[in-house]
Amino acid sequence: MGRQFGAKPTSLARVLVVVCVTTLGFALIADIFWASSSKFTSSYFNTIVSNQSPHQPSILPINNNNARKPIGDIPGRVLSATFQDLPGPELKWEKMATAPVPRLDGAAIQIKDILFVFAGYGTIDYVHSHVDIYNVTDNTWGGRFDMPKEMAHSHLGMVTDGRYIYVISGQYGPQCRGPTSRNFVLDTETKQWQDLPPLPVPRYAPATQLWRGRLHVMGGSKENRHTPGLEHWSLGVKNGKALEKGWRTEIPIPRGGPHRACVVVNDQLLVIGGQEGDFMAKPGSPIFKCSRRNEVVYDDVYMLDDEMKWKALPPMPKPDSHIEFAWALVNNSIVVVGGTTEKHPTTKKMVLIGEVMQFNLNNLKWSVVGKLPYRVKTTLVGFWNGWLYFTSGQRDKGPDDPSPKKVLGEMWRTKLKLNL
Ligand SMILES: *[C@@H]1O[C@H](CO)[C@@H](O)[C@H](O)[C@H]1NC(C)=O
Ligand SMILES: *[C@@H]1O[C@H](CO)[C@@H](O)[C@H](O)[C@H]1NC(C)=O
Repeated sequence: MGRQFGAKPTSLARVLVVVCVTTLGFALIADIFWASSSKFTSSYFNTIVSNQSPHQPSILPINNNNARKPIGDIPGRVLSATFQDLPGPELKWEKMATAPVPRLDGAAIQIKDILFVFAGYGTIDYVHSHVDIYNVTDNTWGGRFDMPKEMAHSHLGMVTDGRYIYVISGQYGPQCRGPTSRNFVLDTETKQWQDLPPLPVPRYAPATQLWRGRLHVMGGSKENRHTPGLEHWSLGVKNGKALEKGWRTEIPIPRGGPHRACVVVNDQLLVIGGQEGDFMAKPGSPIFKCSRRNEVVYDDVYMLDDEMKWKALPPMPKPDSHIEFAWALVNNSIVVVGGTTEKHPTTKKMVLIGEVMQFNLNNLKWSVVGKLPYRVKTTLVGFWNGWLYFTSGQRDKGPDDPSPKKVLGEMWRTKLKLNL
């Protein structure tokens, strides 16, 4: 709902080979990349080695769906920094007007020809508390309005019914500050904000969608920003109002964690990619300075249908996180723009994604449909009249270095051509 562009509903369930997710292996990660290091710099933006004690225990689920080989530990083998790039057609990108401010971890919702762009970090020490508006018909930025003072500034869950935008939880403040459980709803016609009942507990970047008249919120990170939450709640909503006093507990998701795409299509609820673990505040830091922790990025796609049991669909071409607003639904395909994949096995640096991927729901096939102008994460995506748009995010250091550098407000578009 909300981000649907000319999709023709077909029954996905009939086409699928469905794998029920009955068990999920959990294991201690022995190979922790938290090498203790004297070289600690704040690094949410620059991505360095963390200062975590190697003795601190960490329990994170391991992806045993598709046992990938640990490429990094083959002796004598040297991996290029760019080994995770996938081949794909070149696209002709057109640079449009740059957004009024650069943004990392912002949020975006498209309603007709308007892309509403919310919040986000400007720098690691400064967060935005306003909405910028881009009109995809005349390709201009214009119209800025404030968010409520109590609303989170990044890691928001967000979805629309076509008029109202529901805004869920998220991180309040810069660096790696704590989350809020406060939720809001924006009437995009009047630009008025209202409260929604708060979540039972706050979450960072939970998967959020509207499905069958209920707002669904799943996963995300728990209060320490790192521990994956598995909980799933729903709330009946209509015309921007909650129909119930509080959130209902629903079936937990198979894997928790932040930064997944969450899509409702053909009356099914899909969650795509994401990660477990995230940067967290350095203990005792008065400014909640971000410090890096172990992260596992995944390629899993899970689907909920009538049976209300999670089913696994074919995985992405590679693990992809930071894509909660980096997708569009076009012709019964989900199109995903950029993101982050698993860290480089030898340098341990974060690796950004420079591809546009298509998940064709007619045949459940993933493919790479194009290359981006650069690798970039937390893109904010729209689609209009055949044009795929993306703005904001954090780009790579250059063609030979896929680790993150500059936070941007650039807006780009290309004529999208999908595989049948
Ligand atoms: C977007 O721009 C077009 C062309 O100027 C205008 O006709 C349209 O009303 C604008 N959309 C909105 C929602 O303001
Ligand atoms: C979507 O389908 C329509 C009708 O078949 C087609 O004209 C259009 O090119 C398709 N869009 C993309 C992005 O492939």
